[in-house]
Amino acid sequence: MDDLEGRVAVVTGGGSGIGAAMVAGFAAAGMLTVVADIDLAAATEVASAAGGGSIALHVDVADPASVEALAEAAYGAFGAVHVLCNNAGVLLFRGFGDAIIEDWQWVYGVNVMGTINGITAFLPRMQAAGEPGHIFNTSSIAALGATGIYGTSKAAILTLTDALADELDGSPIRASALLPGMVRSMITDAERNRPADMGRKLDDPTREFAGLVGVDPSTCADRVLEALGTGERYVWAGVPERSERAETAHRRRADELLAAIDAGIVEA
Ligand SMILES: NC(=O)c1ccc[n+]([C@@H]2O[C@H](COP(=O)([O-])OP(=O)(O)OC[C@H]3O[C@@H](n4cnc5c(N)ncnc54)[C@H](O)[C@@H]3O)[C@@H](O)[C@H]2O)c1
Repeated sequence: MDDLEGRVAVVTGGGSGIGAAMVAGFAAAGMLTVVADIDLAAATEVASAAGGGSIALHVDVADPASVEALAEAAYGAFGAVHVLCNNAGVLLFRGFGDAIIEDWQWVYGVNVMGTINGITAFLPRMQAAGEPGHIFNTSSIAALGATGIYGTSKAAILTLTDALADELDGSPIRASALLPGMVRSMITDAERNRPADMGRKLDDPTREFAGLVGVDPSTCADRVLEALGTGERYVWAGVPERSERAETAHRRRADELLAAIDAGIVEA
């Protein structure tokens, strides 16, 4: 997408970390922004820092009705949406053996259904407008390593984005996966926003690292702004080093998966 001046971006999870950095980056590029978050106070702070062309709205991305209301309000305020960042996400460190069903429901509800709810509410409106558009779904380097509940949810977002980008090929709308490595944010304290009816609260020691480790989130915003120009599908950002573990695991899986297909082939 060329000429960002006056274009409209909606960022879920815009109240903190990577989302807040994207809002600041879009605003600096002259775009109008909707900062959407379950934490309205945080979203309001980010929107006021971004300036006059930015509004804050409450959304719970796990709730389709809430995301539909967000789309209505965004179109009501600005009359168009050109960039949608399905970015709200939560992290949970817990092994399969220890997980309770609400762990899966919470992480998949926000990360996977949140992304799907965003696409379902916004894409038809964006397509009807016929203007250039771009949807960024925030996956993670964890999508390659398939690390527990969180990694599997991010792998789902990556596959979903591939399918979306294929479907949109040839249309004025692009789809990209944002794949952050390790970025300084509040993600290790994600349970601060876990609804009370979504299972027990963890006493997670990673909480104390919140806001302390990783590269500056503006690295993600810079890469997303670049990708708006290039249309690239996989947008890596904030990767501290090439992760051999992820790379090896990914290649081995692809090799084994394809090699094993022969055993399942049946004569027609
Ligand atoms: N920080 C990293 O190193 C890293 C790495 C890879 C991927 N990611 C992904 O980046 C995205 C942004 O996370 P971050 O690191 O900036 O964390 P963050 O916790 O700083 O920001 C996440 C935001 O999402 C909001 N949110 C949580 N649940 C929500 C819901 N149900 N509805 C609406 N908003 C909700 C939070 O209030 C918060 O403002 C996430 O999808 C995360 O999985 C982060």
